[in-house]
Amino acid sequence: MIELMVICVIWNAVAMETNKQKKNLSDLEAKNEQLTLEKRDLQNQTEDLRMKMTKLTAEKLFYKNQTMEMTVNMTILQNQNEQLRNNSDKLNRTQAAIISYTNFPADLFCPDGVCQTCPKDWIQFQESCYFFYNLGSPWKTWNQSRQFCQSMKSDLVVISSLEEQTFIYNTIQYYLDIWHGYWIGLQKVNNNWTWVDGSPDTLGYWKNPGSSEDFAYIIQNAPLNQSWIQFRNSFQNRFICEIKALMF
Ligand SMILES: *[C@@H]1O[C@H](CO)[C@@H](O)[C@H](O)[C@H]1NC(C)=O
Ligand SMILES: *[C@@H]1O[C@H](CO)[C@@H](O)[C@H](O)[C@H]1NC(C)=O
Ligand SMILES: *[C@@H]1O[C@H](CO)[C@@H](O)[C@H](O)[C@H]1NC(C)=O
Ligand SMILES: *[C@@H]1O[C@H](CO)[C@@H](O)[C@H](O)[C@H]1NC(C)=O
Ligand SMILES: *[C@@H]1O[C@H](CO)[C@@H](O)[C@H](O)[C@H]1NC(C)=O
Ligand SMILES: *[C@@H]1O[C@H](CO)[C@@H](O)[C@H](O)[C@H]1NC(C)=O
Ligand SMILES: *[C@@H]1O[C@H](CO)[C@@H](O)[C@H](O)[C@H]1NC(C)=O
Ligand SMILES: *[C@@H]1O[C@H](CO)[C@@H](O)[C@H](O)[C@H]1NC(C)=O
Ligand SMILES: *[C@@H]1O[C@H](CO)[C@@H](O)[C@H](O)[C@H]1NC(C)=O
Repeated sequence: MIELMVICVIWNAVAMETNKQKKNLSDLEAKNEQLTLEKRDLQNQTEDLRMKMTKLTAEKLFYKNQTMEMTVNMTILQNQNEQLRNNSDKLNRTQAAIISYTNFPADLFCPDGVCQTCPKDWIQFQESCYFFYNLGSPWKTWNQSRQFCQSMKSDLVVISSLEEQTFIYNTIQYYLDIWHGYWIGLQKVNNNWTWVDGSPDTLGYWKNPGSSEDFAYIIQNAPLNQSWIQFRNSFQNRFICEIKALMF
């Protein structure tokens, strides 16, 4: 009986202990489960944060790229703007230059619609263009030479400074003989040497001053300031035309 009681007590104790352990186990299991959940939650949050960061980094890169692209675009636009303004300026100046001619020979200055400072085969010096008629004979009288120049909306050259004289003198060629030269736009009007633009001559770079002849040409084979010859219209020479350069 006593033994049975002891067994019972022991059994009870063992059962209680077992229960306690069971409870402990289930507590632990619960705790474990909770911890597992918390861990998953943390992993989820970490994963979320990582995803957010990745997204932010991508956005940052995107905006950086956009900013760079916009900077590039802005530079391009600014350049285009400047180019447009430059073109407009140039057109304005071209227009002003064209208007300053009484009779602008567009076919000479603007072949194919693109305007040049001087027509093709003309030479620019300062603000004028010069055409040196260097073809072979037959050459032309003073009158014919002038008509040729006028047919190109220009006129025989008017020499109005030592610089211009030097340029002409250095550009003409010796041809045929010492008597031949290039007609210039200088003639006697009422016994006064007068340029074709109506101005009186003040330079007088004559080789044979005081002759009775009425027209002037320039030769190369003489000193710079004694290179103008007074002669008659009918003599056939090369000649020089001059027209205002299209300054723009
Ligand atoms: C139950 O667990 C606690 C700690 O969590 C421990 O102190 C106690 O001894 C355990 N009980 C049994 C019966 O194992
Ligand atoms: C994190 O949990 C939320 C719900 O609580 C869920 O919408 C989301 O998809 C989970 N994220 C990951 C990475 O599992
Ligand atoms: C921006 O990214 C695009 C591709 O998405 C790329 O072609 C471009 O060159 C980038 N722009 C800059 C300024 O890096
Ligand atoms: C830059 O210009 C290009 C083409 O002009 C355009 O497609 C692009 O959207 C522009 N980028 C930005 C950021 O404005
Ligand atoms: C515009 O003109 C200025 C000066 O005339 C020049 O320096 C600049 O390069 C020009 N810009 C463009 C885009 O052609
Ligand atoms: C060109 O001229 C017009 C008027 O003649 C003027 O309104 C315009 O501002 C000028 N453009 C430039 C770029 O100077
Ligand atoms: C030159 O031509 C004009 C007409 O253009 C004429 O009046 C003048 O008589 C001519 N002079 C000479 C010398 O032939
Ligand atoms: C020619 O010159 C003289 C002075 O030398 C002057 O009196 C005369 O008016 C001039 N004639 C012409 C047409 O210019
Ligand atoms: C011509 O130039 C020379 C110097 O080259 C000078 O000595 C002479 O006085 C000038 N003659 C005339 C008429 O101007």
